[in-house]
Amino acid sequence: MRHLLEVDDLSRSELLEVLACGAAPVSPKCLEGQGMALLFEKPSARTRNSMEMAVVQLGGHPLTIRPDEVGLDVRETVEDVTRTLCGYHSIIGARVFEHSKLERMVGVSSVPIVNMLSDEAHPLQALADILTLADEFGGVAGLAGRSLTYVGDGNNVARSLAIAAGMVGMSVRIATPAGYELSQSDLARVVAAGVDIDCTRDPVAAVAGADAVYTDVWTSMGQEAEAVRRRAEFAGFTVDDDLMSGTSAESIFLHCLPAHRGEEVSDAVLEGPRSRVWRQATNRMHAARGALVWLMEHR
Ligand code: CP
Ligand code: NVA
Repeated sequence: MRHLLEVDDLSRSELLEVLACGAAPVSPKCLEGQGMALLFEKPSARTRNSMEMAVVQLGGHPLTIRPDEVGLDVRETVEDVTRTLCGYHSIIGARVFEHSKLERMVGVSSVPIVNMLSDEAHPLQALADILTLADEFGGVAGLAGRSLTYVGDGNNVARSLAIAAGMVGMSVRIATPAGYELSQSDLARVVAAGVDIDCTRDPVAAVAGADAVYTDVWTSMGQEAEAVRRRAEFAGFTVDDDLMSGTSAESIFLHCLPAHRGEEVSDAVLEGPRSRVWRQATNRMHAARGALVWLMEHR
């Protein structure tokens, strides 16, 4: 039984298989007549829609469960919810605050568990990010030796992205303000995945010559009380035309979305010719389908 809580749950060759499944035309109906439970503790536009449509494309039935309907560890325990859902569904996805809830699900589950975002990781996003980079730079094989710079908060998206990009051979630079770096344990995990990573507090130096620049919100879901302080502490980390002017001539801009125009990214960059964010959002569905096909094959 295989699960997907973080990109490095896959070996490099398995990651390439998942990406190939995602890039392939829709054909296998590996979820025919079966259900996938999609549990959400947080809001979602892309993840819910891309997962539901991926399940439909594979012949299955997606069942989205809002936080007020189940109440993980509120109405009943994570373990009891998981064991119950295993009786109805062939696969379970969950978007949670504490990553440990996903690990607890894995501990009792008889079906694959998929991380649809936790406070630590967002692997399905990272798969879509790699598909988007591959679309641009000559396939996954064309990514080796390319450089990716992430500017902003050293968060769940940054960690999964760094692992995925490094695993396909990209060099990774991360520019964060002081105090917002990847944690030591996250960094150790990225390094253990064999990633060539460079961390800095200087966004201008970090984007110099980069093939791709990526950012995410400064305030993630669950951190809303810190928004004012974060806005002040992230000053100078907005990805705008000035910052993009230091990148390679063919560089692209990526953002997992939702975006806060005027904070982590300027409107001009988000809407500009280098932006690939809408293709990236669409690739969430292809990445999700790839992950589901692969997980169902490896039950
Ligand atoms: N990028 C992403 O996960 O978007 P949602 O939060 O809307 O699902
Ligand atoms: N870092 C953001 C990503 C949203 C898709 C969050 O966790 O809210």
